[in-house]
Amino acid sequence: MASKKLHTGQSGDSTIDAQHDALIVRSRRLLAATDQTMLTLCAMDLYQHIREHFADEERLMRKLKYPGLKAHVDQHQGLILKLNAMVKNLSIEPNKNVAWSSFISDLTRNHIDTYDELLSAFLKQRKAVITQDPPKSLIAQ
Ligand SMILES: [Fe+2]
Ligand SMILES: [Fe+2]
Repeated sequence: MASKKLHTGQSGDSTIDAQHDALIVRSRRLLAATDQTMLTLCAMDLYQHIREHFADEERLMRKLKYPGLKAHVDQHQGLILKLNAMVKNLSIEPNKNVAWSSFISDLTRNHIDTYDELLSAFLKQRKAVITQDPPKSLIAQ
């Protein structure tokens, strides 16, 4: 389930990296829930974290005029729709981990490792351009 790329310092934005790490911790906690109360608490916690994370990521993309903004936001909205359905049907039945694992895999492998990775490449490229030495021709003599 866990993405090999989810380590702090990978995306070029420390807040986003910390949120991704926290998201993995919360996902694991939810999969380990053994009773209805714990499952409900973990699901609400994950839900809140994902909403906050998506909002922060979208704010960052808007601020930097990220060219892939629309497709990325569409992905977030699709995941939120799935998450809403998951939260509405919370139950500790034997197959609960199959459904949650599928959602978490969508979130990590299909979203973080693809859409967030594209954002990460953009952030790193942007940082490299900003920190690059100016051409000598632009430096006053
Ligand atoms: Fe994202
Ligand atoms: Fe993300």
